[in-house]
Amino acid sequence: MDILISASILNSDLANLGNEIFRAEKAGADMIHLDVMDGVFTDSITFGDYVVGKLRNCTSLPLDTHLMVNDPTKLIPLFVNAGSDIITIHEESKCDVAECLKLIRGFGKRTGLSINPETEAERVFPYLELCDVVLIMSVKPGAGGQKFKQESLLKINAVRREADRLGLKLDIEVDGGINQTTAPLVFSAGANVAVAGTYLFKADDMRAAMDSIRNVV
Ligand code: DX5
Ligand code: ZN
Repeated sequence: MDILISASILNSDLANLGNEIFRAEKAGADMIHLDVMDGVFTDSITFGDYVVGKLRNCTSLPLDTHLMVNDPTKLIPLFVNAGSDIITIHEESKCDVAECLKLIRGFGKRTGLSINPETEAERVFPYLELCDVVLIMSVKPGAGGQKFKQESLLKINAVRREADRLGLKLDIEVDGGINQTTAPLVFSAGANVAVAGTYLFKADDMRAAMDSIRNVV
């Protein structure tokens, strides 16, 4: 499977977001990762569909929208209209997970299901056929720049084994604390998509940082 990098703008210069996305695109990002937080599921609030809709005009890269919200049900159509390409919801959200995934697919968008560090990998198994992406959180959701949790490696491996057993071509994406050192660990555990924020946006040379993640395989 190809290795893909989804550049998370959370710790970028948010006052110059359009330019930061342009920088990530030029440096070779495959997707732009947008962390939507509602202040309930997470402590902080970031941005919503209105801002995502404006960012749609800044890039032709897929918008990888990570909904860290308490109930995504009513928000899904808003992010579809805003131009999101992947819409990822959380298993821990207060929603009917299967219904939300079907709703996203019904709009012709790619589906993602995420689990927090304390949630067992097996919790996504019942939904794998409805998922294009499983997003394993390797930090507590809510902030960029945290340290990668090694426990996520076993979970990546468990999800990859189950997807293979079912014959599913699933993207496994890992989010939080990805850098030159942790990227090889997640790829060899079975992930094929790395979300990287701080490591890319705070690098002196973003392209070199991007390559250092991609070329470890
Ligand atoms: C955390 C977010 C991540 C975060 C990753 O709640 O979901 O996308 O921005 O950022 P880094 O790469 O800084 O850990
Ligand atoms: Zn994220």
